[in-house]
Amino acid sequence: MDISLQQVGYLYGKDTPFEKRALQDVNATIDSGSYTAIIGHTGSGKSTLLMHLNGLLKPSEGVVQIGNAKISAGTKAKGLKDIRRNVGIVFQFPEHQLFEETVEKDIMFGPMNFGVSEVEARRRAHELIELLGLPPEVAQKSPFDLSGGQMRRVAIAGVLAFNPSVLVLDEPTAGLDPRGRKEIMDLFYRLHQQEKLTTILVTHSMEDAARYADHLIIMHGGRSVMAGTPEEVFSDETKLAEYRLGVPRSVKFQRDIEKLIGRTLPGLALTEEQLATAIATAAKEGGR
Ligand SMILES: Nc1ncnc2c1ncn2[C@@H]1O[C@H](COP(=O)(O)OP(=O)(O)OP(=O)(O)O)[C@@H](O)[C@H]1O
Ligand SMILES: [Mg+2]
Repeated sequence: MDISLQQVGYLYGKDTPFEKRALQDVNATIDSGSYTAIIGHTGSGKSTLLMHLNGLLKPSEGVVQIGNAKISAGTKAKGLKDIRRNVGIVFQFPEHQLFEETVEKDIMFGPMNFGVSEVEARRRAHELIELLGLPPEVAQKSPFDLSGGQMRRVAIAGVLAFNPSVLVLDEPTAGLDPRGRKEIMDLFYRLHQQEKLTTILVTHSMEDAARYADHLIIMHGGRSVMAGTPEEVFSDETKLAEYRLGVPRSVKFQRDIEKLIGRTLPGLALTEEQLATAIATAAKEGGR
């Protein structure tokens, strides 16, 4: 599903003394099947933007288009049900939303609410437990008896149980150890490719944005201020610094090495692997 935002503005507590503008004149396009990372300093409006992608929030100004559905300030809640089913959101610390007595029931809850049969919901729950690398016996355990990382996986399974075509992730690995982070990010990437999902990731990690995304949107002070491929965005260090953002570690290393050897390496090293290849190629050429 193609997604676009046209001149979207959002005010929390509109027309109250606590009115607070969180988004202003946001324009963005997210192509169907793309992997888009949204980056920006804390408070720049990323989570507020995400909540517009499944109708949890309606724009105060402008239009959000998701597939054929257009959402604006006046859209009725009834028109949003299909969108909620197609767009799955994994919030930051999603484990706070676990509530059923067993893991199995927690994962089955959403789909059954949307009319999926109990047998089918249970089958899908067990499939997801395996997919997320959890041992099968957790199905009958209370979600609250699991480790933090396992609870996170159960909560993610609960979102995937809907078979969404758009998967929205708000810092899905915050607070996990490095190994758990990588496992989950790799899993999302595999799902993105296998299920041909449209994936939208909010992250503070420039490394993750560079490694996984093919399209970046930069938020600053509630506005969308920059967009492009990771190569385009991370080539412009000066502009990123204006938004208090940096480049991935591999790009920093590349620039340091270029200073030391007095020439530029070809391309932009978005990952450590790409940097290793660029250095190896330069070393071979240098030896000739
Ligand atoms: N429920 C709310 N009521 C009032 N203001 C809010 C509310 N939620 C967020 N805000 C404000 O809206 C702005 C954008 O917040 P948002 O949570 O979207 O930022 P963010 O980019 O997700 O930040 P972070 O990286 O810290 O998660 C901030 O100024 C914030 O204080
Ligand atoms: Mg946020």
